Amino acid sequence: MISIIFKNNLIAQLKKRRTLVVGFVFWAVCGSCFAQLFGAPSAPEPSTGLYKKSLVTFKSQGVAAANPLAVEAGFAMLKLGGSAVDAAIATQLVLGLVEPQSSGIGGGAFALVHDAKAKKLRAYDGRETAPAAAKPERFIGSDGLPMKYYDAVISGKSVGTPGTVALLETLHKRHGKLPWKKVFEPAIELAEKGFPVSPRLHEVVKLDRFLKDDAAARAYFFNEKGESWPIGHPLKNPEYAKTLRSIAASGSTAFYSGEIADAMVNAVRDYTDVAKRGDLTQTDLANYQVIERDPICFSYRAKKLCSMPAPSSGGVAIAQMLAALERFPMAQWGANSLDTVHAMAEAGRLAYADRAQYLADPGFADVPKGLLDATYMKSRGALIDMTKSMKRAEPGTPPGIKVALAADPNIALTGTSHISIVDKFGNVVSMTTTIEDIFGARKMVRGFLLNNELTDFSMRFEENGKPVANRVQAGKRPRSTMAPTIVYDAKGAPEIVTGSPGGSAIANYVLKTIVGMIDWKLDPQAAIDLPNFGSRNGPTELEKGTPVEALKPALEARGHTVSVIDFTSGLQALQRTYDAKGQPTGWRGGADPRREGMVIGD
Ligand code: DON
Repeated sequence: MISIIFKNNLIAQLKKRRTLVVGFVFWAVCGSCFAQLFGAPSAPEPSTGLYKKSLVTFKSQGVAAANPLAVEAGFAMLKLGGSAVDAAIATQLVLGLVEPQSSGIGGGAFALVHDAKAKKLRAYDGRETAPAAAKPERFIGSDGLPMKYYDAVISGKSVGTPGTVALLETLHKRHGKLPWKKVFEPAIELAEKGFPVSPRLHEVVKLDRFLKDDAAARAYFFNEKGESWPIGHPLKNPEYAKTLRSIAASGSTAFYSGEIADAMVNAVRDYTDVAKRGDLTQTDLANYQVIERDPICFSYRAKKLCSMPAPSSGGVAIAQMLAALERFPMAQWGANSLDTVHAMAEAGRLAYADRAQYLADPGFADVPKGLLDATYMKSRGALIDMTKSMKRAEPGTPPGIKVALAADPNIALTGTSHISIVDKFGNVVSMTTTIEDIFGARKMVRGFLLNNELTDFSMRFEENGKPVANRVQAGKRPRSTMAPTIVYDAKGAPEIVTGSPGGSAIANYVLKTIVGMIDWKLDPQAAIDLPNFGSRNGPTELEKGTPVEALKPALEARGHTVSVIDFTSGLQALQRTYDAKGQPTGWRGGADPRREGMVIGD
């Protein structure tokens, strides 16, 4: 009911602006999907049911993100003549307010920016970084064993130096058109006047086991009776507005030094249990650097795709899986068929085996370029036997390995958000942004939550006497699976802009969406709506309550161990449209029904 009011208010506002909006119809809430929040973190954000969406079409500029208010803020920047980057910043700053469980200025992000004028794609790494005092045995308890996952998450030790503010500033300096202060206005206004608590925010606050333990989070997210604010409650966050005002006035230095920095440093130490105290310092914050990296580009069915390089494993995994699938008649097999699920799960096993062995921060570990070597990838794909599952893949030996390190033994660990934007100048942003687990480290400072990104490192630092590639080291960035991705058309213009949250399952979510659009010729909404499935080199995982669940017996007959789980992706995808002669006609976009996102464009 309240969700409908929330929707109607928004749509009324949007109609006033004559934007084209279709979708955001609240469909159904599944009341029994929350088991994962309490068990092993196979998916870091719980399901809160489905919010049915419809395809959106638009002419030249549009924003897709995980919350309507954030999308509206980004779109408002485009209407003012801003660039895709201006829109991405405004969207991110509002997401940090209205979807604080997933991303915010206390976290990190990766952004791909296609600069139309320069005809160049740039990849920006704003990943959180381990403090200078961090040591490989960071997550080993006094008993000599790796800490329990949530003991590590809910502690100052999981907090890395946040990168998002520096990233937004770098993006703006390079690609912004509107004044820096302008892009802060929507978030500041909403934080001061209050925003309606969304159905998903209401649910995830209610369900979280740890959020109440932090005094600042308790005071903000709960009413005086300790209950999650009701859906539609106008929640104000004056502290966040104050933080944003400082950054808007003085730039990222207001975040990385001075009062806000001091507050973060104090917060990570604020635990009575000494073992939980973190070690982030003012120097770590002052030294934070955004890194511009070369995007990784590869081809699939004659199209060029580009994604995020290491320290993300997502782009490499997607490249490897697509290379393995290219020899199969995916178009003929179609979505949700036994052969499709078998082949994609096997491709996943191979890619995730390499991910565990080789992927880490390239400034610290040897990430062989040979992982993307065409002959190597083909030879890996040749290992797929359509009659039986390999069950568990071993890593391959790509050309050019310099140092043999050990694999990350965390095979299937499972808050993040994705933003896709195009502007009328032809620029494109694909940005995946995170605070890692839902509500991050559950530590609130100055109106925002601190990340727990350092638990993306391996808890074990050596295996069989060899150092683990993704072990904790001072100043290192933890391995990620975030895969903001852009597919190019034959003329070199961006054709598909996509990405997703979902922890280590991100590569599988993005893969499904790309295959859906390229092989099955689905529109972005239909591709996103497809069931999620795949393998992270553990069991073959099928999304609960979807048509692929019915494949379980047939997959088992081919030797798969099958696990049926909630798979809360948060895909957003924009796709260019063409006429019969191949001339571009406009865009269409979709948002994931598993979250509250939407697309607005005109
Ligand atoms: O960087 C990564 O891959 C993870 N920290 C992302 C976490 C995530 O997607 C949680 N989302 N639901």
